[in-house]
Amino acid sequence: MRPVLLNSVRDNSVTDAVGLLKQQAAYRAVEFVESGMVVGLGEGSTALWAVRRIGELVQTGQLTDIVGIPASLHIEQEARQLGIPLTTLNEQPEIDLTIDGADEVDPQLNLIKGGGGALLREKIVAQASKREIIVVDESKLVDRLGTTWAVPVEVIPFGWQSQAAYLQSLGAQVTLRERNGKVYETDQGNLILDCNFGPIDDAQHLADRMKARAGIVEHGLFLNLATAVIIASAGGIRSMQRG
Ligand code: A5P
Repeated sequence: MRPVLLNSVRDNSVTDAVGLLKQQAAYRAVEFVESGMVVGLGEGSTALWAVRRIGELVQTGQLTDIVGIPASLHIEQEARQLGIPLTTLNEQPEIDLTIDGADEVDPQLNLIKGGGGALLREKIVAQASKREIIVVDESKLVDRLGTTWAVPVEVIPFGWQSQAAYLQSLGAQVTLRERNGKVYETDQGNLILDCNFGPIDDAQHLADRMKARAGIVEHGLFLNLATAVIIASAGGIRSMQRG
């Protein structure tokens, strides 16, 4: 029997040790942001630290002429409050650097994302980015994707149970995501099916099967998209680079 993996938004507090590691990883990534850049702003409690740090640097004038492209409505709101100038992918189709979090990272820098429900916009932003820096604490590292986290899959509401059955036929235990006792809706008004496949043997094959299905809008397997991963642990900060 496969363990039940619970996909839920994690705590954002810095009062705990993991919160501190998230902050450290995010701050290190922000050192790569330069004035004049178009910056992708990821979703999640770790990426939020990067957004806050960028906001500080903008407010103190240490970063100038940057524009942000938020990967969720929540981060858009946060960035506005912090005074980060924003733009859209329609205005700026290419992003210099995106900083985002992840739910799992494997040794090849492949990821599971979407714990915060923003996987569709996050993937659009990642694919438009010249550099995608992922910031995590070491608990996110796994040998194989699917080991600790279910794959979030965004489906349109029409016929969603048919997509759930399809995902079951691919080997998943499927849970319709809820939050605060209500069915969770993405920024696009879609649903999330959290799909526990267990450790995944061939993530590319699984990704291809999911993409082939009408009704599945996007899935949380981010393959070959991260250019670097910054990992914070009690022993310090290290990074892994693609290639
Ligand atoms: C948002 O949809 C996600 O992809 C997050 O980036 C991911 O869930 C990591 O979140 P935390 O940084 O909160 O762990």
